[in-house]
Amino acid sequence: MKTLGGYVFAEIAEAKRKALDSGSEVIDLSAGNPDLPPPKEIIDALKREADNPENHRHPVYEGIIELKEAISDWFYHRFGLRLDPEEEILVLIGSKEGLSHLPLAFLNQNDYAIVPNPAYPAYKRGVIISDGKVYEAPLLKENKWLPDLDKMSKRILDKTKLLYLNYPNNPTGALAPKEFLKKAVRFSRKNKIILCNDMAYSEIVFDGERSFSLMQIPEAKECALEFFSFSKTYSMSGWRLGFVVGNKKLIRILRDLKATLDSGVFHLIQKTAITALSLPPQVTNSICRIYENRRDILVPGLKSLGFEAELPKGGIFVWAKIPSRRNSKRFSLELLQKTGVLTTPGSGLGSAGEGYLRFSLTASEQKLKEALERMKKSKEIWGG
Ligand SMILES: Cc1ncc(COP(=O)(O)O)c(C=O)c1O
Repeated sequence: MKTLGGYVFAEIAEAKRKALDSGSEVIDLSAGNPDLPPPKEIIDALKREADNPENHRHPVYEGIIELKEAISDWFYHRFGLRLDPEEEILVLIGSKEGLSHLPLAFLNQNDYAIVPNPAYPAYKRGVIISDGKVYEAPLLKENKWLPDLDKMSKRILDKTKLLYLNYPNNPTGALAPKEFLKKAVRFSRKNKIILCNDMAYSEIVFDGERSFSLMQIPEAKECALEFFSFSKTYSMSGWRLGFVVGNKKLIRILRDLKATLDSGVFHLIQKTAITALSLPPQVTNSICRIYENRRDILVPGLKSLGFEAELPKGGIFVWAKIPSRRNSKRFSLELLQKTGVLTTPGSGLGSAGEGYLRFSLTASEQKLKEALERMKKSKEIWGG
């Protein structure tokens, strides 16, 4: 636990609590915690399912077959390929649970996992908890925020068991072109590495584009797992529900590990999720449009304040380079103290995030405009 250090979002929550205690009106743009309610059909289904006493018993560990069949159907309609519900799908208590338990299942002591930097912290922390070693692959703007797989040394690769990818990407907002995913599959097969793509933002993609699934690459099923979440797609983040698809053998091992660690997801939630997956694409598209409209307010506003920021292509964050090379943790804290606007310091997501702030799009257009207005008025922060 000493090696692990503090969890950035726990530290941010503490800073927020202090700011609230001191009477500040905080606009929280730190965590990716959707502010939108789940669609009404989902809430109605939850109420219906709550009346069934069977739904309150111990859950089926790997997920009920009806839900896994619904996931398989959704996958077919979304990506055009069939998955075997029994063997190629496992239900998770949120995708974070599966992503962070993965190294426990597959790494021996001192085995390496390649982890992007910056990244969602659960990958790296899961590796550390499993006594594995982290090889950080920087995500740089000049590489379109993709890791450079040609740069890995043979010595490390010989001891590497896992490669984490996350597209649509948190925090950079990048998408992975299909060519890159193909390359990652080739690389993983050649080096006998388990390829793991985190698709938590699979449905939050802007400008009329769509994300690809690794599974659309025929050889991927030999070496890959892909993690999905209900948190952003349906604004169900508090429900703790996700799923992983991919290689049968890998799924079985993860399932066996989980059978010891947890007892599966509450049936009430699993049953309701079937309704979520059967909703027409317009429902998730409209959630996506809301984030897109917010993005189109926040990015130009930040640029006018001197931040360097691109329009994210997907996800729910804006990755913005701080004007005048300031330390991101100190800058984020100063911003909170002077304006009440809470952000995630880039360094909290990895050393390559130093000099950046991550702004979440989980606040209304009005709140985002107000945040920009407050920042504009606090000229002293910018040294002006
Ligand atoms: C990249 C990424 N992966 C996974 C997760 C976790 O999602 P879930 O709520 O399904 O555990 C998040 C949540 O913020 C995330 O940003």
